[in-house]
Amino acid sequence: MPYETVITSVENNVGLITLNRPQALNALSAKLSAELADALTEFLQDAEVRCIVITGNEKAFSAGADIKEMGPRQSTDMLDRFTSSIWTLLRRARKPVIAAVSGHCYGGGCELALACDMIVASETAKFGQPEINIGIIPGAGGTQRWTRIVGKARAMEIVLTGKPISAQQAMAWGVVNRVAPVETYLSEAKRLAAEIAAQPPVAARMAKEAVIKAEDLTLENGLDFESRLFAMLFSTEDQKEGARAFVEKRKPIWKGR
Ligand code: CAA
Repeated sequence: MPYETVITSVENNVGLITLNRPQALNALSAKLSAELADALTEFLQDAEVRCIVITGNEKAFSAGADIKEMGPRQSTDMLDRFTSSIWTLLRRARKPVIAAVSGHCYGGGCELALACDMIVASETAKFGQPEINIGIIPGAGGTQRWTRIVGKARAMEIVLTGKPISAQQAMAWGVVNRVAPVETYLSEAKRLAAEIAAQPPVAARMAKEAVIKAEDLTLENGLDFESRLFAMLFSTEDQKEGARAFVEKRKPIWKGR
């Protein structure tokens, strides 16, 4: 399906979604949000796609929600908008999703990156929640995700000052997985995605689910959940193939079942 504000492609079992509204620094307009949700849905349903990369361009991953569209909205409009689509899709996505971020990554754009499972940043990436500067607060997970990732004190500074942090600072705080030169950050993200896409799909799905659960469960319940997923994998063909390939000293051939 052709989109106007996102571009999609698939290579090496990696689905790439490029936000494509450069004239507005990839601000998340209603149209872009809807098309991003459709592209995500398509990739989540496509068996050929085993890992997803979301990116923008060198200048901007995304400068956040579209302030021009959002300005006149009422509370009830926003209630409907933010309980839908991309945020729910990402929260429930079973395939790993990587954000490849360069330049401005602010507001809803930053929340989009944080909603992904991993972030590969360019040296020019800047992460921030400037909502306070326009009389609002993050509305798509910013206060919750920053606090879980970097702790209360740093999250407070991010959301109360509205000032962004650099890619290097984000790396030091554990927000991003790696920082690469602007020329190579996207290929680095694609390489990481292809590496993950080449793993046994059912195990990759379980691994992701278990890590995500660790954010919500008590250690006791989390260990319990993990051990059940672990045991469940022993009913897959890929588990038998993995062990057999190890003994036979060859590369395993995964079937995804
Ligand atoms: N919404 C709508 N349009 C935006 C936008 C946004 N979030 N960010 C940038 N643009 C537009 C600008 O209006 C401008 O368009 P025109 O040429 O038609 O005027 C174009 O993109 C280029 O932007 P600038 O000229 O401002 O570029 P710059 O390099 O001087 O500044 C910037 C870059 C610092 C990112 C600045 O654009 C900026 O501060 N943007 C807003 C960032 C922001 O506040 N984001 C939070 C939005 S609220 C939110 O996201 C809520 C939520 O939690 C979901």
